[in-house]
Amino acid sequence: MTTTAWAHPNIALIKYWGKADAHANIPATPSLSLTLDTLLTTTRVRVLDAGPDQLTLDGKPSTDVKIFKCLEHLRSKFNLPPLAIDSTNNFPTAAGLASSASGFAALVSAINTECDLQLPFAALSDHARRASASAARSLLGGWGALRGPQWQAEALPVDWPLEVVIAITQTGAKAVSSSAGMQASADSPFYKGWVDSAEADFSTALAAAQARDFAALAQVCEHSCLKMHGLMLATAPGLVYWQPATVAAIHRVRELRNHGLDVFFSIDAGPQVKAICTPEAGQEVARALAQVPGVLKVERVGLGRAARAERE
Ligand code: PMV
Repeated sequence: MTTTAWAHPNIALIKYWGKADAHANIPATPSLSLTLDTLLTTTRVRVLDAGPDQLTLDGKPSTDVKIFKCLEHLRSKFNLPPLAIDSTNNFPTAAGLASSASGFAALVSAINTECDLQLPFAALSDHARRASASAARSLLGGWGALRGPQWQAEALPVDWPLEVVIAITQTGAKAVSSSAGMQASADSPFYKGWVDSAEADFSTALAAAQARDFAALAQVCEHSCLKMHGLMLATAPGLVYWQPATVAAIHRVRELRNHGLDVFFSIDAGPQVKAICTPEAGQEVARALAQVPGVLKVERVGLGRAARAERE
């Protein structure tokens, strides 16, 4: 038998960067996210008669350390058989498009079903979070959060179908992984200010989302994003995830907003720009970002569903 699981990446509007507990992978800051549709990880898991585990990522054999660590942790709790895992993304992997979020959400969902673990959502979320904290949020559809004291993915009572226009400026894998980057950022002189202001940003963003107050949401989310990149730049050695086209797209988004469009930007540990906007603004935002020099591709996506798994 084989189980197929599907999960979408999510984008944090209020960002997580830094770990309160590296071993258990507990974030230092709460995060608030949108799960996206269109971009998709598909993961197939099959029980093997004998080991070792077999792993294929995007069609190529892989020895990805984070995936084997995730399996090892599951095996410390459950008697898992050897597994064949085949995972594919319909978008660039490890390029700041949250492939680890959708990847681990799909992986734990697939193993849960294929091995009949019957994990409750909280446990599924814990396993996903241990592998990659943002992955817990990809278990959810739409608006989600990851915050203390439980640090389990939490569906937010927000009913606002925003859209995200993704401007791809580079398709290669990023130079510094988020785990390595976060570890280095903890020594930055900006780290304390980042962590101390995160709770307030989260509350402001949640209130703005519930009130459907686009201007307030734009202000706090761009601030969270730029503070995170300020911290990254003030890490030694500095983490510069942006390309010239990233900066050009930031300016274009602000010009569009000054001209009355409901749009703001967000950028993760990579060079892509995500322009969050109302569905009415989507077409114009996509057209404008496609014309920014250095933008290779633009994709409009809506809000996606929760991770799901089916056994064949
Ligand atoms: O969960 P990780 O290790 O992929 O880190 C995610 C970090 C950011 O994407 C930059 C922010 C976030 O909250 O998703």
